Amino acid sequence: LFAGEVDFLKGVVAMDGLPPDDRTEVCFAGRSNVGKSSLINALTGRKALARASNTPGRTQEINFFTLGEERYLVDLPGYGFANAPVAVVEKWQRLLKQYLSGRASLRRAFVLIDSRHGVKAVDEEIMTLLDRSAVTFQAVLTKSDKIRDKEREKVLDQVREKLSKHPAAYPELVLTSSEKGDGIATLRAIIAGLD
Ligand code: GTP
Ligand code: MG
Repeated sequence: LFAGEVDFLKGVVAMDGLPPDDRTEVCFAGRSNVGKSSLINALTGRKALARASNTPGRTQEINFFTLGEERYLVDLPGYGFANAPVAVVEKWQRLLKQYLSGRASLRRAFVLIDSRHGVKAVDEEIMTLLDRSAVTFQAVLTKSDKIRDKEREKVLDQVREKLSKHPAAYPELVLTSSEKGDGIATLRAIIAGLD
């Protein structure tokens, strides 16, 4: 499913620009710089499909990618700190929240958490919004190559504890590294298994 069947469709800046909601859709949400765009590249095996960079606030539109004939992968702007003017950031944040709470075809939101930092207050805000909108979300820890085994258990415990308070949370966590490839096959299988 992920080999050679992926394409950029469009970048969306307002709700009325969304493509028809007739496909199985999954999105990647998370704080700025957590690794959303890099994860899409790792999943699709395409190095520069989604633009990634070290500057928080890189992705400024809702970017739709087609995966085969029946699915969309959606790269979202980050929340939290971004290296962009306040008015601009507020505009994307509004759009992001509208999208996360009003998209009928959204089958699962992957909420990315930096494995060095764990769940922050802004992540919990998004999780609460997803609870209210009844969008199932799954936590994906990113940058696992940056932590040691000892710290890993502590972070996983913190994330599990936070998720236990959210009715829309899917209990299984995925630990990933876009750099080293850890967890990528697992996440591909999860996406392929959604219908
Ligand atoms: P915004 O679009 O700004 O919200 O950021 P993003 O969440 O899309 O993050 P992006 O994929 O652009 O990655 C941010 C930075 O983290 C880049 O410098 C990436 O190279 C780095 N990065 C992403 N994933 C990994 C990973 O698994 N391991 C390591 N070591 N670095 C990573
Ligand atoms: Mg991005």
